[in-house]
Amino acid sequence: MRKLIGVLSLILVAVAVVHVGQSQDAPQQPVPYSHKIHAGDLQLQCSMCHPNPDPGETMTLPKPQVCGTCHPGKYDRQIKWVRIYEVPSFVNFSHRKHIDAKNTCEECHGPVATRSQIAREKDLTMGGCMNCHREKKASIDCTFCHDQRN
Ligand code: HEC
Ligand code: HEC
Ligand code: HEC
Ligand code: HEC
Ligand code: HEC
Repeated sequence: MRKLIGVLSLILVAVAVVHVGQSQDAPQQPVPYSHKIHAGDLQLQCSMCHPNPDPGETMTLPKPQVCGTCHPGKYDRQIKWVRIYEVPSFVNFSHRKHIDAKNTCEECHGPVATRSQIAREKDLTMGGCMNCHREKKASIDCTFCHDQRN
């Protein structure tokens, strides 16, 4: 990608980087499921497939019955999706708290409803978490995101 930057104009680079980055980073999924079709064209709500069950800090991946309502006999089985965003177990992360604090899906996952494949396009490493916490005046104390050492 760096080599490209030398030869293309700025606008082309912006388009190329997004495009190349996406197709390189998106892992092959067991079924060619597309958010662009389902969340974009069909306008299905995120919560239909990612319900953030109460109680729970995760968004969860869809159960076979959800796909089965529209694709009976085709995708109504347990599918082993390749995970995209994951934080290590020594990091505290709660979707619920972030959504309650009015952060949007797009801020952390990009324009998912326009993507035919999901790639890790936003930086949610420690640096990425810290940047937003600084911007939104949330704490950047180590113990905010990591449990204190015993
Ligand atoms: C509300 C109905 C609905 C739900 C729920 C739904 N789909 Fe779809 N899906 C569609 C429609 C409509 C199309 C477009 C069909 C076409 O263009 O041929 C489609 C297309 C697809 C395609 C590409 C074309 C094909 O038929 O192979 C795949 C793969 C797919 N869906 C998988 C899934 C999976 C996996 C789930 C569950 C996570 C799911 N869908 C949930 C309605 C739905
Ligand atoms: C019809 C079901 C369906 C809908 C609606 C849907 N998703 Fe998904 N989502 C899936 C499936 C299936 C996967 C796993 C396959 C993949 O990564 O593409 C997934 C994966 C994801 C992931 C990556 C999870 C990981 O592995 O870390 C994110 C982020 C995501 N969805 C966000 C959204 C957002 C935001 C919306 C609403 C704009 C949405 N989804 C709507 C079915 C759905
Ligand atoms: C503040 C950033 C942030 C926001 C806002 C956010 N997510 Fe996430 N999302 C993450 C992180 C970080 C992970 C990895 C979590 C883990 O490993 O426990 C993740 C994981 C996921 C997953 C994979 C399953 C899971 O729960 O681990 C899905 C699906 C998902 N997000 C969907 C959504 C949807 C839908 C929204 C909006 C309603 C949303 N996210 C809002 C940061 C965010
Ligand atoms: C898009 C901006 C954004 C990103 C990215 C983000 N956060 Fe946050 N985070 C917030 C905001 C805003 C709050 C709420 C602060 C408050 O209530 O004072 C928050 C709160 C928290 C809390 C406190 C939750 C509680 O118990 O009240 C933790 C822990 C946290 N974030 C961890 C993380 C981690 C880990 C990541 C990266 C994986 C991350 N955040 C990424 C904006 C973000
Ligand atoms: C806003 C949330 C947040 C805060 C605040 C935070 N971290 Fe992290 N930290 C993370 C996340 C997320 C990771 C996982 C990084 C990844 O996935 O690359 C991490 C990873 C780490 C690691 C492992 C590094 C590695 O390369 O695996 C160490 C050590 C660490 N943090 C120490 C600290 C210290 C010391 C502080 C205070 C100065 C701190 N963290 C503050 C979110 C945070």
